[in-house]
Amino acid sequence: MAEVCVRLEGKRDGIVIHDDWPGYSLDLFSYPAHYSGDLDYVIIPHGVIMDRTERLARNIMDDLGDHDIVVLCVLKGGYQFCADLVDRIKALSCNSDHTIPMRVHFIRLKSYLNDQSTEDLHILGAEDLSFLSGKGIVGTGKTMKTLLKHVESFRPKMIKIAGLLVKRVQLSSTCIPDYVGFEIPNRFVVGYALDYNEYFRDLNHICVISESGKKKYKI
Ligand code: HPA
Ligand code: MG
Repeated sequence: MAEVCVRLEGKRDGIVIHDDWPGYSLDLFSYPAHYSGDLDYVIIPHGVIMDRTERLARNIMDDLGDHDIVVLCVLKGGYQFCADLVDRIKALSCNSDHTIPMRVHFIRLKSYLNDQSTEDLHILGAEDLSFLSGKGIVGTGKTMKTLLKHVESFRPKMIKIAGLLVKRVQLSSTCIPDYVGFEIPNRFVVGYALDYNEYFRDLNHICVISESGKKKYKI
């Protein structure tokens, strides 16, 4: 059954991956042998992530092209998306008259143990974001709501959130990014810097972890 997804007016949906999407067999792609048996299937191949990111970069350029921006990358899970997104924005800036002066800042959020969210959310590196005053911000990462409140207190001119993935969950308080790569089923996914207890960040594709994978790396 389709699950409830919170949509806010004016937000872009991203590519929708339905709950009955079987994904791709791992045999069709290359991936590190040390993860053999730990994954069920590839839900988003690396190449598709890169193609979608290129388009998000263009949407961001179209919307923010007249502002200086500070990119606030949420580590660790957001590092690969942030790096690739910034890369695409730089390429677009180099190849047109339309350029964006861009600074990149990193903060770290940690709240997951195994595949469960914990109450305990740590924000590291966000103590003084006063350089954000009057700037536009594009945040990239997954756990945004707490951070958003914190960032707003530094009064930037504009805040936009870019999220590679939005899960269909039933929480009415879910914060939907302004730029969405993919809308995915409510499954625990790994790869492309997303981890399970720090494993799988070294996997390029976004995959669904297997039950045996969860057991193997459980702490
Ligand atoms: N994978 C990795 N980290 C996460 C996820 C996920 O599906 N959801 C929230 N944090
Ligand atoms: Mg994590």
